[in-house]
Amino acid sequence: MPTRSPTATPRPWWRDAVIYEVYIRSLADSDGDGTGDLQGVIDRLDHIQALGVDAVWITPFFPSPGHDHGYDVSDFRGIDPAFGDTDTFRRLVDELHERGMRLLVDVVPNHTSHEHPWFQAALAEGRDGVDYRDYYLWADPAGDGGPPNNWLANFGGSAWTWEPESEQYYLHAYLPEQPDLNWRNPRVFEEWVAILEHWIELGADGFRIDVAHNLLKHPDLPDNPVLEPTRAENVPAGRVRSARGLARVYDVDQDDVVDLYTQLRARLPRTHAGEDPFLLGETVLENPERVERYLESGRLDAAMWFGTDRVPFDAAEVAQVLRTPSPDTAGRFGWFLSNHDRARPASRLGSADRALALSAAVLAMPGPYLLYQGEELGMIDLEIDPSTARDPIALRAGELDASRDRARSPIPWTDEPGRGFSSAEPWLAHGPLPEHGSAATQRGNDTSHLNRWRSLLTTWARLRDTLPVSTAVDHHDDLLTLTRGALAVQINFGTEALPLKRPAGAEALWRSQPGGDPATLRAAEAVWLYRPGEQ
Ligand code: NOJ
Repeated sequence: MPTRSPTATPRPWWRDAVIYEVYIRSLADSDGDGTGDLQGVIDRLDHIQALGVDAVWITPFFPSPGHDHGYDVSDFRGIDPAFGDTDTFRRLVDELHERGMRLLVDVVPNHTSHEHPWFQAALAEGRDGVDYRDYYLWADPAGDGGPPNNWLANFGGSAWTWEPESEQYYLHAYLPEQPDLNWRNPRVFEEWVAILEHWIELGADGFRIDVAHNLLKHPDLPDNPVLEPTRAENVPAGRVRSARGLARVYDVDQDDVVDLYTQLRARLPRTHAGEDPFLLGETVLENPERVERYLESGRLDAAMWFGTDRVPFDAAEVAQVLRTPSPDTAGRFGWFLSNHDRARPASRLGSADRALALSAAVLAMPGPYLLYQGEELGMIDLEIDPSTARDPIALRAGELDASRDRARSPIPWTDEPGRGFSSAEPWLAHGPLPEHGSAATQRGNDTSHLNRWRSLLTTWARLRDTLPVSTAVDHHDDLLTLTRGALAVQINFGTEALPLKRPAGAEALWRSQPGGDPATLRAAEAVWLYRPGEQ
């Protein structure tokens, strides 16, 4: 069994941490209004702690008119009464800290709600306004009176909306109700230093930074190049189909955006535990080298790598996306299979067994793993019914098949009709029960998906500090092997059993499927082999 080497250099807590993503609306409803809340998170901390996670990331709980289910914020320092109040937040922080877990607040610096007082002031000031006008991005119409350039909003239509009073357009990467902030304005930067200080003061240990690659735009606002239609199909998710026709050259991932994080970090105070606040960026980029730029010294601590959230269950394709960044940034990609914007892995990949097998490799990659609520239960997609659909984005774009509702249905805590989520009708319909049942059923079954995840994470906690940050990935037909120091993860991506290739002296620490012949690797099975003495 691995032991921690006494000479190992101390690693930051987040290096190989497991961070549990709470989609607040759907975890647990404590007050019977059908919507999850902060007290609901407190009530479910036993479940979260028993998984063996290191931190919890909670999606936005700030006041919001709800055009993008909380990612359209009207007060960055407040708490929406539907989710609780500052006292509830403080209690949550205390409970987490007492249990040895940290808290990440999900901040949304790219845009505000159109109801935010800054935007309201900018409107009232008009085109010559000097106080709040420049908090946002305004431009005169093009010669034909249309939008200033061809940029598209991720949620459909032009990225520019006409404001008749001032006869200017304003920019929004998402909905017109989500105007983009102008991060080239130093006052916006100062506002954000104060907002992050506020949450650190209240006990946050770090932040998940929404669309961190989006904050700066090219100042000259050039048109984006038009993509060939076949290429447009392959653009990463996060945009509705009708918004996929352009190469995002000038409106996202600008060369200088990374400097903002160096500057921001230099201004942030330490957390209550005396640590640097952990900064995790949501970087929705196709090219891993571009993600690495956000990690070079003094920028973000970790950046989400969107390679594994759409990959099919195929050894060669998985080998392609299990990328180890360069030595400078190794151990700092944020790995995940799912989140509140993506299809559930058990549905996308075809079964909960396949999802768990793939997680066994992705978890072992150097860097934090982001475990989305319900993934530990093998939850499957909610089938979208037009009469109960909720995701405003899909509804507005008329693309129900793209609805993010699929991954947002309430957690099935019990088998009862309300599933232990709420005493009221839930804000979004319950999905089908996972293959192994509700959380309560799974808790009582040693070989349930939940208990397999728990044993995986217990094994991980013992192992992770002994592993280097370099990996090697190899695949032959349906067999993929990921080696990280003394750990070798093998996965059978095929439909037939394969002989298990166990190197001399290697011990099988964990298998994704219970029982079975120790000499074979079954279809969709993963095994963790440990070779003592191997570096
Ligand atoms: C990414 C978030 O995860 C998503 O839910 C949201 O709609 C967009 N950013 C815009 O804030």
